[in-house]
Amino acid sequence: MDIDVNTATLARIYDYMLGGAHNFAVDREAADRIERAVPGTIRTAWENRAFLRRAVQFCTAQGIDQFLDIGSGIPTEGNVHEIARSVNPDARVVYVDLDPVAVMQSRTILEGDELSGVVNADLRQPEAILDDPATRSLIDFDRPVAVLLVALLHVIPDSDGPAELLSRLTAHTVPGSCLVLTHFSSNYGTPEQVEALLELTRNTTTPLLIREPDEILALLGDFVPTPPGLVPVHEWRPEQETGTAQSSGYAVVARKEQPPGRTAG
Ligand SMILES: C[S@@+](CC[C@H](N)C(=O)[O-])C[C@H]1O[C@@H](n2cnc3c(N)ncnc32)[C@H](O)[C@@H]1O
Repeated sequence: MDIDVNTATLARIYDYMLGGAHNFAVDREAADRIERAVPGTIRTAWENRAFLRRAVQFCTAQGIDQFLDIGSGIPTEGNVHEIARSVNPDARVVYVDLDPVAVMQSRTILEGDELSGVVNADLRQPEAILDDPATRSLIDFDRPVAVLLVALLHVIPDSDGPAELLSRLTAHTVPGSCLVLTHFSSNYGTPEQVEALLELTRNTTTPLLIREPDEILALLGDFVPTPPGLVPVHEWRPEQETGTAQSSGYAVVARKEQPPGRTAG
């Protein structure tokens, strides 16, 4: 796998923000530049991770025991398999990312773990994810599955057809399955802060883009938001008052419902 140490990547910048060790000088400089321009960005990365934990716990409490984590990033504390297995030791997880460091590190920590797999693939090719041997052997699409897209869709422009990608990705999921996502939005901060973030990522390999709540909801297809709906990330079922006013965008957990006229079982 080719690792370019001269170009910052989203996975490695994020790893640095979360206190990880799998990043290079170019990533640290990019992250520091972002934090200087928009103080609080690193904290929002942690908020995003805290949402991931709450959302996986929520899905596990709904009886979901299989997770497809797309844009999973470089493993850090509180990975999906660890969170899910603290409730259900048999939970299965497939991690998907296109970043070579994320894939390599995920393979390293999951070596010998027969209930987890790692797929090196791009969300823009959903069939490559679904047809990968790891997905085929670990995920049973006849039972509910949680598809996670946490802090990912805001680097997928409309020209890539994100709604259609999600529809292809979830076409074979059964009712009870969940879509879990967070998305950067203009609620991030002041207009100046939002513009500064957009500008800092404009000439990178993954420019950030904004979607407003109605545009994010439009990506969900036939998945219906569970309470509290699409809300600022830190307001999604918080465990305690965070006392924060700054949001890192929006979060939602949406569920595929039974088609009308059909009953479960
Ligand atoms: C901001 S990180 C989020 C990591 C993790 N989901 C979390 O919330 O902690 C976004 C991740 O998405 C990955 N990514 C970006 N574009 C992708 C694509 N088209 N397909 C798959 N992964 C992608 C990046 O490599 C990175 O690891």
